[in-house]
Amino acid sequence: MRITAGLAAPLALTFSCVLIPGAAFAAEPLKSELAQPPQAVLSPDRAVTAASPDGSLVVAVSIDNDGRPTYALTRRGKPLIAASSLGFILADGPTMVRGNHILGSETSSGAETWEQPWGERRFVNDRHNDLLVRFQQSPEWGGRLMNVRFRLFDTGFALRYEMPEQAGMKTMRIADELTEFALAQDGTAWWMPGGEWNRYEQVYQKTAISGVSTAHTPITMKLADGTHLAFHEAALVDYSAMWFKRITGTKFRSTLSPSPNGPKVVRDLPFHTPWRSIRIADNAAGLVENDLELNLNEPNKLGDVSWFKPMKYIGIWWGMIRGDWTWAEGPRHGATTERTKQYIDFAAKNGFGGVLVEGWDKGWNGNWFGHGQDFSYTQATPDFDLKAVTAYAASKGVQLIGHHETGGNIANYEAQLDDSMKLYANLGVHSVKTGYVADAGGIIAPGAAPGITQMEYHDGQRQVQHHLKVVETAARYHIAIDAHEPVKDTGLRRTYPNWIDREGARGMEYNAWGQFANGPEHEPTLVYTRMLSGPMDFTPGVLSLEGANHAPLASTLAKQLGLYLAIYSPIQMAADFAETLAAHPKELEFIRQVPADWAESHLVAGEVGEYAIFARKDRNSADWYLGGVNDATPRDLTLPLDFLDAGKSYTATIWKDGEGATYLTEARHKIAYETRTVKKGDSIALWLAAGGGAAIRLHPAGK
Ligand code: NOJ
Ligand code: CA
Repeated sequence: MRITAGLAAPLALTFSCVLIPGAAFAAEPLKSELAQPPQAVLSPDRAVTAASPDGSLVVAVSIDNDGRPTYALTRRGKPLIAASSLGFILADGPTMVRGNHILGSETSSGAETWEQPWGERRFVNDRHNDLLVRFQQSPEWGGRLMNVRFRLFDTGFALRYEMPEQAGMKTMRIADELTEFALAQDGTAWWMPGGEWNRYEQVYQKTAISGVSTAHTPITMKLADGTHLAFHEAALVDYSAMWFKRITGTKFRSTLSPSPNGPKVVRDLPFHTPWRSIRIADNAAGLVENDLELNLNEPNKLGDVSWFKPMKYIGIWWGMIRGDWTWAEGPRHGATTERTKQYIDFAAKNGFGGVLVEGWDKGWNGNWFGHGQDFSYTQATPDFDLKAVTAYAASKGVQLIGHHETGGNIANYEAQLDDSMKLYANLGVHSVKTGYVADAGGIIAPGAAPGITQMEYHDGQRQVQHHLKVVETAARYHIAIDAHEPVKDTGLRRTYPNWIDREGARGMEYNAWGQFANGPEHEPTLVYTRMLSGPMDFTPGVLSLEGANHAPLASTLAKQLGLYLAIYSPIQMAADFAETLAAHPKELEFIRQVPADWAESHLVAGEVGEYAIFARKDRNSADWYLGGVNDATPRDLTLPLDFLDAGKSYTATIWKDGEGATYLTEARHKIAYETRTVKKGDSIALWLAAGGGAAIRLHPAGK
């Protein structure tokens, strides 16, 4: 590990009284706060540096002339992040920005390979160097202590604040976090706006980096020199989500999701913030095959979660999304006992492990949007016999996937949480889809007094706490959670591997609501943005290629299969009606075979927002799968089969765009099939249609 002390320049901190707006009100209490024991001998260092294990990334941490802690990052000797400052605005004291000095620093390093219970790959490598820098503000600024840990990987960088116990501050009331990211170059960014009314369900923007406004993370960038970056956060626990706000030029600063109570975060000390993370790569594959955020999370706290099995599922769902059936009771009610049994039969016959049923419970009648107080999580509608259905499912070796829509009313949900999980557990249900349909800022949470509620953001501290409460409660009942309208994934599946899935972007459902509602570039953009955060319950497999009123999807038939390889999820839906799936036996065969759990995953061809082809190896067999999705530009690819095991031949079964296929016309239904024998060293040539895709199963020949 290379750690070097920087310039041993004399401390030359300058303080300007004019710059202390909070000084007047802070003066009295702060004097007593200053009666702390001296923390350490002041280091004469003005800068410390540390490097990643291979030396390519170097962080330099220093104090600027105003006493602001700053860090700067270089890669292979070239500036990547220019000097960027760190700190907080507090709701009840002077800002924690100026007047700092470095008390000292420590280094450490880590290297391990750990195993995932399920995932895109079985084994994950972690190799990093840490630099912990301890700062203290001068007495004029409150004398507060702040530690910042910098973690350097060869393919990523992260930092977090570690707030130590201190006499002068028991509770930190954070008005905002001021972590800067001053990019040294412009380039292209793929991002969605932060704080919009419909949460993370946004059409992705592609703009200059210098044209971003406020974005959610992950935000992905390709710099002018070709470097690929993705900014995100890891281990978002008991804190507000970070939005990524452009200040000027290519300089960004964190701003936290708001709270109705003023401070965006309230925490007792000691505590640490989530990690602010940057994936760093030479190309798109380097962004995708990168486990930065998982490595930044704590190890599994739940132990054995083998009660959750990755699977494919169908559901009484697309019919409601399209408007054919209703969640509400009545003549078109989707969730009837009879229909559920039919879906269970279909699942059992075609190898699906689960059947999701929405609208089974009371509370959907009337305008359920905004009426989350009406939902019951234990009482079924009269035409849905929960006991009979779960018993029937068990007799067929299928599981019911439970469903809790909250309408954003977490006060009502939390009041029933334990009872509802207990009910499902008693009926043998091991996974539950939750939902939080409400505008951003529309989460109704319990307030300070009984019966009082208050409004929260989907990604504010309160809702972050709520999600974990649901996940921890569910874990006690051996139930896995798939959250829709969630807070973004920050790698917490490592610590809580029953948090299997989320929505958190525009899924298939948008295609039910308008022609080409998700454009052809949507999924090849998701792969390099939303998917960097974790699995997504995108719900592929709409083989009719149409939504409500015959609105066409921006997809060929082969692309619907390619989605199973491009968009990773440990539970993969075949979203269409059972009748439609049955009417496509060859496509259904692929869906029946494709795994939802992988030993390895590699992006073998792709560019951000354009196309994405993965090679993935089944975790439970010797099969490989190859395929993915394309944007609106037809393209020819030659895919070397270098990943195959040497000395074996494989039967390649290919589902690909038929000649003349295009998402733009009825030719979207054109698909071609091919079977041939291949081995390592061969390659497969593929033509991808506009809005097209491909799926290939590679099965050891003769097995
Ligand atoms: C929105 C979710 O994305 C969708 O999957 C669900 O069916 C509805 N909410 C109702 O819960
Ligand atoms: Ca949704």
